[in-house]
Amino acid sequence: MKTHGACRPPSRFAPSLTSRVLKPSPTVGYLSEMSSTPRPTVYIETYGCQMNVADSELMYGTLAAHGYDAVDAPDGADVILVNTCAIRDHAEQRVIGRLGEMRRFMKPDSIVGVTGCMAQRLGPKLLEKARHVSLVVGPDGYRALPQLIDNARNGERGIFTTFDLEEHYEDVVPRRTDPVKAWIPVQRGCDYRCTYCIVPQTRGSERSRQLHEVVREVRQVVETGTSEIVLLGQTVNSYNDGANDFADLLRAVGAIDGVKRLRYTSPHPNDFSDRVIAAHAEVDAACEHVHLPMQSGSTRVLKRMLRRYSREEFLQCVDRLRAAVPNLVLTTDVIVGFPGESDEDFAETLTAVTAAGFSDAFTFKFSPRPGTPATRMPAEEMIADDVASERLARLIQTVRAQSREQNLSLLGSRVEILVERLARDGALLMGRTRNWKTVLVPGEASLINSYHTVELTGTTGSTFTGTFVDQHKPMRQPLPMAS
Ligand code: SAH
Ligand code: SF4
Ligand code: F3S
Repeated sequence: MKTHGACRPPSRFAPSLTSRVLKPSPTVGYLSEMSSTPRPTVYIETYGCQMNVADSELMYGTLAAHGYDAVDAPDGADVILVNTCAIRDHAEQRVIGRLGEMRRFMKPDSIVGVTGCMAQRLGPKLLEKARHVSLVVGPDGYRALPQLIDNARNGERGIFTTFDLEEHYEDVVPRRTDPVKAWIPVQRGCDYRCTYCIVPQTRGSERSRQLHEVVREVRQVVETGTSEIVLLGQTVNSYNDGANDFADLLRAVGAIDGVKRLRYTSPHPNDFSDRVIAAHAEVDAACEHVHLPMQSGSTRVLKRMLRRYSREEFLQCVDRLRAAVPNLVLTTDVIVGFPGESDEDFAETLTAVTAAGFSDAFTFKFSPRPGTPATRMPAEEMIADDVASERLARLIQTVRAQSREQNLSLLGSRVEILVERLARDGALLMGRTRNWKTVLVPGEASLINSYHTVELTGTTGSTFTGTFVDQHKPMRQPLPMAS
């Protein structure tokens, strides 16, 4: 793995102050001394992708098993953990700012830790930068957290940034906060080496969980009343546990009683084998939505990104998916301003967005990440910020116009939604269709986590408003008055 400049090379051979031998037991250290005192509290703030959300649930689970109570604000928590993302510089700057703010919430004996991808990337530098931080723990070190926290209470600042190719936290019961959807990591790490991307450095090599372990976890989840499952991995459809591929996994999870909606993120176009596409098409629970990161529509740029597909191969993948799954909605990720991207290359990205018929996109300006090959491309190829900003604005405009046109054509149709939560203003419910459209409907909070048919009555272009048209329509008419 290549590294660059001042960054510590996160590697599985990196020295660490702790090791996997430190499998903590529920009675060690701090807690055993505190049996008559109130349970200590932990607050975790999560940045980055769904993998980090799932990891925070595992951290809460690990700490709950060691007697901690979760709290939903940092103010006065005994332990404050910031689970970080390193994907773009902006993501890291936000965390640095937030870490500084955490000082305000600390009691004299609070422990502050940094976990996740930035912890893995920066290691001891974080301890040097932030004196109030006592622990730095990468994605494969979370089972050491209780022990590291105990050590920190004894004045020992700790780092755990060793990769562990066996680590899937199988024995940890995650503390899930979303009753509607369960995020299930099925793969950790990444074996692609896209030239802009920091993830292989922060998450290590790709490894898949055993299919039977995933099935066991999903069975447990559906028993609690959750019926939507999202399988997670950096290139989730390259899943392979030695005996089963992603097609087998989709079929096995889709066959579990109680799984009504099955999603996965993010697949890589090259890993959409005919078997995987057929499984998606044939598994009833698999939703009619795929988030398929494209990154660029120019073959020249894709080559320099080391995405390992051309524009034509990407669009063929789109065609194969659309042919197999009727009414499929596709969303994507796109980077603009990658080194060397010309006006013509960018124009190809815009036409590819249209050719693929994307309904939505996460759009990013290229952010150089230390140690990645893209940072070593010739300086004269770096794209000026104003050029990248202008391209980003045009891309967003293209995606919005396309999404608006698609959504207008859906007005008046009837669709199934799963009610996820109260909408932000609290007066409406937010539900989602199988194909990932957001619908706001008037209704009571008791409808959260239930399925309903709604008619789509309006759209802002990106989200819909709707009304219930099924038997669950809330009864609002007053009862007849007795005469
Ligand atoms: N594993 C996923 C991507 C995970 S990162 C995949 O391969 O598709 C999420 C998104 O962040 C990427 O799809 C990419 O669009 C964006 N991204 C990653 N590194 C970036 C960088 N250095 N600058 C800008 N965007 C980046
Ligand atoms: Fe990064 Fe590429 Fe791996 Fe995705 S596939 S995590 S973009 S290296
Ligand atoms: Fe960020 Fe790490 Fe996810 S870098 S996007 S939190 S894998």
